[in-house]
Amino acid sequence: MKEITQPFRGISRYLLFISVLTICCTDSAAAQNSTPLQITVDPDQTGPVINKHIFGQFAEHLGKGIYEGVWVGPDSEIPNTRGLRDDVIEALKKLKVPNVRWPGGCFADEYHWRDGIGAPEERQKRLNASWAGRVEPNTFGTHEYFDFLNLIGAEAFISANVGSGTVQEAADWLEYLTATGSTLAEERAKNGHPEPYEVGFWGIGNEVWGCGGPFTAEEYLKELKQFSNFSTNYNPEMPTKHVAVGPDGDGFGEYTEVIMKEWAQKSWAWNIQGLSLHRYTRNGWPPNIIATDFNEAQYAAVIHETLGMDGYISRNKVIMDKYDPEVQVGIYVDEWGTWYKATEGSPEGYLEQQNSIRDAIVAALNFNIFIRHADRVKGANIAQMINVLQAMILTKQEKMILTPTYHAFRMYVPFQNATRLDIEFDAGSYESGEVTLPGIDAVAAQDDKGRIIIALTNVNPKEPTTIELSLAGISIKNVVGETLYASTIDAINTFEDPENVSPNPLSPDISEGKITVKLKPQSVTILTVEKE
Ligand code: AHR
Repeated sequence: MKEITQPFRGISRYLLFISVLTICCTDSAAAQNSTPLQITVDPDQTGPVINKHIFGQFAEHLGKGIYEGVWVGPDSEIPNTRGLRDDVIEALKKLKVPNVRWPGGCFADEYHWRDGIGAPEERQKRLNASWAGRVEPNTFGTHEYFDFLNLIGAEAFISANVGSGTVQEAADWLEYLTATGSTLAEERAKNGHPEPYEVGFWGIGNEVWGCGGPFTAEEYLKELKQFSNFSTNYNPEMPTKHVAVGPDGDGFGEYTEVIMKEWAQKSWAWNIQGLSLHRYTRNGWPPNIIATDFNEAQYAAVIHETLGMDGYISRNKVIMDKYDPEVQVGIYVDEWGTWYKATEGSPEGYLEQQNSIRDAIVAALNFNIFIRHADRVKGANIAQMINVLQAMILTKQEKMILTPTYHAFRMYVPFQNATRLDIEFDAGSYESGEVTLPGIDAVAAQDDKGRIIIALTNVNPKEPTTIELSLAGISIKNVVGETLYASTIDAINTFEDPENVSPNPLSPDISEGKITVKLKPQSVTILTVEKE
């Protein structure tokens, strides 16, 4: 029997099996195609709420992520609101972005918040040591960040500077943001914002084992306790969650054990509500995966690596369950996504890369993994929002395009704060050379209006796959669908052809209480079912 990729094994809620046809036949893709794969959703079997923060964004002062991507300045000819570009704001509103993690990344641990407040012309210029030493004008600072959040309707996720900052500097920043009546609060008012800001998440450093330190886990623990103790939120409207740095996919696994063990016996003087995990799809270091013009084997390798997110979360969950069985500390995968070889000719350190239908599949598979682990995963942030790594949006001065990843985020909006439903399915299989992957993936949820939402990904780039979907005990009133598909494996959107990869409506058949839908190869599909 062929190997099934690890993430699809051992998930108790799922009945996954390789069908007899798949075992006996050499061409499993054809077998998958000829016999519809069965999916059953049970609306009576509910799981946890899918925290909307699983669909968070990350924007770092890196390349064109902030400058040009978000901020063009009030004097720009590019239409803007107080310096923030209007086209980007309109596009992001459609994603219902729950939070934007800022100012880094590695940049966070060299960022001094006072550089980014006050009269723009007087702000301190620095060199961005983390990202190719480019000039950081600090014209996008605290107030511009909150203005931007307010325009797109997102919450704040600030990473405080642990590496080169002090406990006092971080404490002052949070007081400046949230206090009423203090000198720092008066300074905030003088700078244009009398009302306290709401800070949903306070990251205590970033990758402190590397660019944000370097600290051993034990050394960081000492910093964490002090930063947590003295970072006080004074705004009762919005409690701030403290998020500690955890491991990344390639190592530093001891962080979870060391932090959670100490947390279990913590005193009143410090606390965390989140532990950060980072994991990129990048095939080691330096990144060597190509973003465009790749072949099927390169497609399959990326999908295979992506699916490793499941095991990574599971391993960390085991440790967290040991010390925190009541799940008071959530996992925040606050950096994830594809990290490819940079676009040829792009400036060094800008981390610019194209984004294909493969990236949309990567996004959907990661969402599905986070949703399956929604009992512990309370947030995640894709790296990064605009122009950097697996971006939603690419800009070229006044032009802007939406990437396939953007469309995947938009299509998954109905999953934000929905309740996960149990789903059983035969994943089939898809083979490319030595790699065997599940043919499809699926998750289901119920929204607050009682609609059932099902996400279906056809991983197989060679064959369409027919699905037969049963909804236990439900009589179906209506079903609508939307699918993201492109006819070539590496299809991208460009400034010349911006809608090459974009979603289209899909009409599933309903017969004898079952929904039948044919999934195009390498596609992401969302069905919304209304009950009678
Ligand atoms: O997202 C790019 C970089 O990746 C971030 O700055 C850092 O946290 C991570 O290593």
